[in-house]
Amino acid sequence: MMQATPSRTALRVALRRAAHQLHDAKPLVFDDPLAVPILGPAFHDELRRTPDGARRPFSAGLRAYVVTRARLAEDTLAAAIATHHTQQYLVLGAGLDTFACRNPYPALRVFEVDHPAPHSWKQQMLAAANITPPPPAHFVPVDFERDSLRARLHAAGFDETLPTVTAWLGVVPYLTPDAFHATLRVLARFHPGSQIIFDYSLPRESLPPVEQLMLDSLSARVALAGEPFQLFFTPSQLAEQLDRLGLRIVEDLDADSLTARYLTNRSDHLALRGKAAHMCIAASTTPNP
Ligand SMILES: C[S@@+](CC[C@H](N)C(=O)[O-])C[C@H]1O[C@@H](n2cnc3c(N)ncnc32)[C@H](O)[C@@H]1O
Repeated sequence: MMQATPSRTALRVALRRAAHQLHDAKPLVFDDPLAVPILGPAFHDELRRTPDGARRPFSAGLRAYVVTRARLAEDTLAAAIATHHTQQYLVLGAGLDTFACRNPYPALRVFEVDHPAPHSWKQQMLAAANITPPPPAHFVPVDFERDSLRARLHAAGFDETLPTVTAWLGVVPYLTPDAFHATLRVLARFHPGSQIIFDYSLPRESLPPVEQLMLDSLSARVALAGEPFQLFFTPSQLAEQLDRLGLRIVEDLDADSLTARYLTNRSDHLALRGKAAHMCIAASTTPNP
């Protein structure tokens, strides 16, 4: 049995999703009734202490980013189910994402993939919180740097000939270029029109000085957590790489587009800070061999 080691970055992200449920104004950007319960009582004090956006704008900025990207993924899934009859949802680098446990679509098969050690940790967190995922959920341990994602998915019953939406949130910056490309090559073979939602960050040198400092601060913290950032793109570099793999960009959303879609007219301080983060939605175009 793999040792159950938390992903510290996944925990910090989950704490922000949970803080959003408790501290931000209604309507929430991302309504997740399991975001607080999955963390269990050990984190209740820390959650209650989460400062408000007025005093800690950077913290509110990260929280806004985390909940906006989660909302975009689930909105994309809902639209794809309605228009493309999507039958599978693949969550890559799932961390403490709770979708599999609150899946409202009875016919949707959900596959969660994560690094083996945090994957076992999540199973323990779910058991401790008495949260039982419904039967169409499959949990698949994969290290994108070492394992064959395709073989592991296949062994778990994933069918790449079915229309699929893949969410890959908060993971790409932690990967090597080889792992990123190997994963995309697998996703590019999915049923044509299958969509992938992932976020990426602009390279440090393309950011204004103040944002370089914000990125430096975040980079130092994730490196201390043992999960350093290592992959950045400009939008044109990314577009070129996706094109070579047969993936078509449906949307590349910058901070202004995300704000316009999800964060206008709020009565709280929830707002994105800086322009470094982008969300990309891409679609497979080639029929599987
Ligand atoms: C910042 S967390 C994001 C978690 C989740 N997607 C969310 O938004 O809450 C990064 C996740 O990527 C996973 N990850 C990072 N490198 C990985 C790798 N090489 N193979 C598999 N998973 C990886 C970590 O285990 C962790 O769950």
